[in-house]
Formats: sequence, C-alpha cells, structure tokens
Amino acid sequence: MSSAEQAARFLKELEPEDIRVLLAIEKVLRAREQVSADYIANSTKLHVDEVEYRLSRLNAKGFIVKRNQGYSLVSSGLDVIALYAFVKRGLISGMGRALGVGKEADVFEAINDKGDLYAIKFFRIGRISFRDIKRKRAYTSPLYSHQWLVVNMGAAKREYMVLKKLYPIGVAVPEPIAVERHAILMRKVFGSRLSEWRDIDNPKRVLIEILSNLRKAYIEGGIVSSDLSEYNILYDGEKICIIDWPQAVGKEHPNSLILLDRDVLNILTFFRRKFKIDCPLEAATFYVRGWSDNLPIKA
Ligand SMILES: Nc1ncnc2c1ncn2[C@@H]1O[C@H](COP(=O)(O)OP(=O)(O)OP(=O)(O)O)[C@@H](O)[C@H]1O
Ligand SMILES: [Mg+2]
Repeated sequence: MSSAEQAARFLKELEPEDIRVLLAIEKVLRAREQVSADYIANSTKLHVDEVEYRLSRLNAKGFIVKRNQGYSLVSSGLDVIALYAFVKRGLISGMGRALGVGKEADVFEAINDKGDLYAIKFFRIGRISFRDIKRKRAYTSPLYSHQWLVVNMGAAKREYMVLKKLYPIGVAVPEPIAVERHAILMRKVFGSRLSEWRDIDNPKRVLIEILSNLRKAYIEGGIVSSDLSEYNILYDGEKICIIDWPQAVGKEHPNSLILLDRDVLNILTFFRRKFKIDCPLEAATFYVRGWSDNLPIKA
C-alpha cells in the first residue's frame, strides 16, 4: 500500500490527540529535525504519557520515525496532515484509486459528499527508489530528511499558484481547488496522456489547441511551463488539458524564452514523429510569443 493510501486509511481511526501531536511536530518542521516528547507535551498541553503513547502509535504506523533525540515527521505523516485538512475544510470526504505515480508525485482520485471527483497530487521530490538505495548504498532514505518535506510544500504551493493564475483566464489546466502542505487538490481531468494515444482524429486541431494554450499562458498569464511534453498533456478525444506546472517560470525569468521554445520544440517533435504533422519551429515560437498570428501547419 502506498503512503497516501496508508494515510487515508488511518484518517478513519485518527483521534484528536494524534493530529495534535502531528501538527506540533509539523509546526517546527523548518527549525527542528527531531522533536522530543517533552517538547510536544509542552506545546500541545497534553500529558507526556499521552504524548508518548501517540508517538509510539504514529511511529508504528510509519507516519513519524524515532531517532536518537526524538521523532521526525516523514512523507506519509505529512499526507495524513494534508488529507485531514482537506476533509476538515469539507472539500473531500474520501480518497480513491491511484491516477498516476510519477517521478515527483503520486496522484490519487478523491471524492466529496456530492460525488464530485477530484485529483490530489502529493509531491514526492527527493523520494529515492529501492534501486537507488541499493546502488548508492544509502541506508538512510532522504525521505527522513525533513528538508525534503519543506521542498515538497514549496513545490505544491508554486504549482497551485500557477494553476490559480492560468485557470481563470481560460488556459486548459485542471481547476485548482486548494493546497495543503505538499498536496494540491484539483478537479479530476478525464482522458489519458497524449503519449498513450496511437491515433487521434484530427491531430492538426489538437496541435493548434496546444500551441494556442501555450500562447495564452505566456501572453496573458506571463507563464512558461518549462516541462511540457506529450506526458504532461491529458486528452479525452476532444479536449486537451496541460498538467504538471511546479517548475513553471514567469515571463520575467532570464531563460523564459529559451524554455518556451523548448516546450514548443518538444510538442512539434512529438507531432511530427507520431502524427506526421509539420510546423516550422520558428513560426510556432513566433506564434506562441505573440509576435505573429500565423501558424503554418502541414498535415
Ligand atoms: N487533475 C488530474 N486529473 C486526472 N489525472 C491527473 C490529474 N493530475 C495528474 N493526473 C495523473 O497523474 C499523473 C502524474 O501527474 P503529474 O504529471 O502532475 O506528476 P509527476 O509526478 O510530475 O509526473 P511525471 O514524473 O510522470 O511527469 C499524470 O500523468 C496523470 O495521469
Ligand atoms: Mg508529469
């Protein structure tokens, strides 16, 4: 079972004292790597025996780890905190199946009381694979390093801010609902990654759709994805949706045009290779930058 699934399951048996202890550890995340039972007792006003009990329970479930001078929060503990917050805010009532497990995030389906479907993206930057552990002979996973949790919270916030900017101006991105810690709650998008489509009805129209969305994001939103590829575009046979924006940069970034051109090149290369659609790179980049309105595509 994945860490987020464990967290979701635990939410059902979570008691107020558990979350108080987790929140007390999280509160000092940036300042302290390890937190002692005494410190937590002091900040939560819980009896130290109660704190000890909660700590050993959370430790046994893998939400925190015991170290020589106290306890540290780990990724799945932060999953509990984020899920708890979404539920408490009344945004979701349950978590479902995995929608995607990427290099830098795990994405799960979620649902609210009315049956609306959402996607939760939990950031996992710094996660080390089992193979890496063996290869590098590293016995302490960087997941235990609380600094990665801080990095992931920053990434979630950045991607959320980008979606908040692009969605209202009509760029085809998932509708952002909320951000909590290292997790973004967004509307579920249907369809599958463009890379998985063998054949599409009107590839020329789809290419135009993608480029015009990049143009809008750049000109009206002042934003460049800088990680665009056929893997970060979802398509349902009709509409496209561009996902995965944590590394996006603003127009004012010194490399923004280079990154924008690279995004365009990735897409043109994919369409040329897979669908035999041709569009000169220069014309496409001029179009996306807003320097011309002309998009000469040969199908
Ligand atoms: N809003 C959404 N609705 C439905 N599915 C989604 C949504 N967001 C992401 N996914 C699914 O989760 C997968 C991973 O999402 P995303 O690309 O944002 O994360 P990632 O970890 O950066 O992925 P990768 O490392 O593969 O690029 C996507 O390929 C997609 O299948
Ligand atoms: Mg991705």
